[in-house]
Amino acid sequence: METTDSKETKKKKMSVSAIKDGTVIDHVPAKSLFKVIQILGLDKIDNQITFGTNLNSKKLGKKAIIKISDKLFEADDINRIALVAPDAKLNIIKNYEVIEKKKVVVPDTISGIAECMNPKCITNVEKVTTRFKVISKKNVSLKCHYCEKITNQDNLHII
Ligand code: CTP
Ligand code: ZN
Repeated sequence: METTDSKETKKKKMSVSAIKDGTVIDHVPAKSLFKVIQILGLDKIDNQITFGTNLNSKKLGKKAIIKISDKLFEADDINRIALVAPDAKLNIIKNYEVIEKKKVVVPDTISGIAECMNPKCITNVEKVTTRFKVISKKNVSLKCHYCEKITNQDNLHII
């Protein structure tokens, strides 16, 4: 059981203020922060958003955290985040309490999210939607359905 005292201490230590209702995306690698913002279209919504980046994390070294008030995400959107932030955790907040935690899941196949790194691939020459088989979920490694070239985390471009 957590005491009120330890809860207070925790709140004071929060780098980004607590939110009342919404979604907190935690454990985002700092370098992926703006990709996550782009993937979720956070630059196009009216909700209140706060974020912190280059926060210390034992697991990730430097992490980012994004807090979106009054917003819940669909499973499809969560999978999109998984491409650039495989360890991200979503916390659903209701009346200041965490009511649910979801770990993002990298799907087995991906369609239309990432670009193929091969400039000669049909998807880069014609209007063909990209399709990949996920061959590594840990480091995100995608094998193109069309040209079979591997696109990995380092050359990953989100459409
Ligand atoms: N959080 C928030 N507003 C709230 C409650 C929680 O922004 N009203 C944030 C916290 O800052 C934290 C995340 O939601 O980043 C998860 O909260 P909590 O489960 O209390 O923290 P931890 O136990 O540290 O989570 P975990 O170890 O699962 O990452
Ligand atoms: Zn290709």
